[in-house]
Amino acid sequence: MELVIEKIKKLKGNISVPGDKSISHRSLILGSIAQGETRIYNFLNSLDCLKTLECMQALGAEIELDKDNSVKIKGKGLYGLQEPKDILDVGNSGTTIRLLTGLLSGQNFYSVLNGDNSIRRRPMKRVTQPLRLMGADIWGRKDGQFAPLNVRGNKLIPLHYTLPVASAQVKTALLLAGLYTAGETVIKEPLPTRDHTERMLEIMQADIKNSPLEIKIKGEKQLKGTDIFIPGDISSAAYFVAAASMLRDSQIIIKHVGVNPTRTGIIEILNKMGAKINILNYQIKSNEPQADLKIEYSELKGMEIKEEMMPFLIDELPLIAVVATQAQGKTVVSGARELRVKETDRIKAIVSELKKMGADIEEKEDGFIVTGPSRLKGAVCESYNDHRIAMSLAVAALLAEGKTVIKNSECINISFPGFEKTLQKIIYF
Ligand code: S3P
Repeated sequence: MELVIEKIKKLKGNISVPGDKSISHRSLILGSIAQGETRIYNFLNSLDCLKTLECMQALGAEIELDKDNSVKIKGKGLYGLQEPKDILDVGNSGTTIRLLTGLLSGQNFYSVLNGDNSIRRRPMKRVTQPLRLMGADIWGRKDGQFAPLNVRGNKLIPLHYTLPVASAQVKTALLLAGLYTAGETVIKEPLPTRDHTERMLEIMQADIKNSPLEIKIKGEKQLKGTDIFIPGDISSAAYFVAAASMLRDSQIIIKHVGVNPTRTGIIEILNKMGAKINILNYQIKSNEPQADLKIEYSELKGMEIKEEMMPFLIDELPLIAVVATQAQGKTVVSGARELRVKETDRIKAIVSELKKMGADIEEKEDGFIVTGPSRLKGAVCESYNDHRIAMSLAVAALLAEGKTVIKNSECINISFPGFEKTLQKIIYF
């Protein structure tokens, strides 16, 4: 599929975005191993989350997805999952494979995890190595570095571990494994990463202490099923936040967006660049903060974004490159090496495609430098089958003279089915 986008004048109106991807994955996994019923509202019905749903069903979980994106799970309890009859296919989803590797390490059966070409290139040692320290039996290509991963569940021992990379996926894998140990697992992080797992475990009555940079969890305690209201995904909202900030006379409101402080780096950075973003109707639902975001056009200026900020905005960095093309002066992003091991090498991808559109952008080993403002021009661009690259380029296309074609744009369905429809609602030519 190709997405064709022409230059527009402004964005105006009210929208909402689909449910949070990270929280949707977690709600399926934790709901399946809790006791009793879990009901999920505003579940993200996208390719990545459906992969987690199918894997959990293959492990014996009873999950029903309704047309209104609500989900009903009859929880199996901590020890109620079953050996899958076939390979578990995670598709393109890094969250699914890493989280499930942790979960499966503590089961009393054997399973195999595999995914697409992109998944088989992504680093897995970061989960397999600490899980092996807990006693997990895991094999994979290059000594557990790459999928397919074979996991033979084992009796695990608690772990005291400092994460070498700030990664919520690794943290969550270890917390899930920690649920299956007789004792306390303690995870330390170099920088705070998204804490959706910890928050959900709290409302499911796990024995968990979530403090900044250190999480403690005691295993062998049953979780309790609960109702989970999932807020709109701030990483999906970000495309409209950025576009409205750059297009003169724009004014939009995005309703019910998750504003967990471990995810709002994009808002902080855009506000520092001069954007006008207001947070309205703040409330906490299912232990997660959400709010309406009001965004108006404003003049932007470049800035420096360093490693400490990365976990708070990691998925928004390709979009920040787009924003930087419209900001006055230099934007320097460093300490973002992790971007090279996402669904694609996102540094290489965004630099090459924005160059095609006329941006002044320079690739660095651990980030990029953009000098703005520049007049973008329409081009034929590659998505690299990466949803975040495709949507970031779609935002650039709204500002670019003429027509932009984004090839292989179906990857947008990985995280944001209905992206184009939502955009159409607020576009003015
Ligand atoms: C995620 C964590 C982040 C993020 C990914 C989702 C999660 O990955 O980039 O999109 O749901 O835990 P890392 O853990 O690799 O940083």
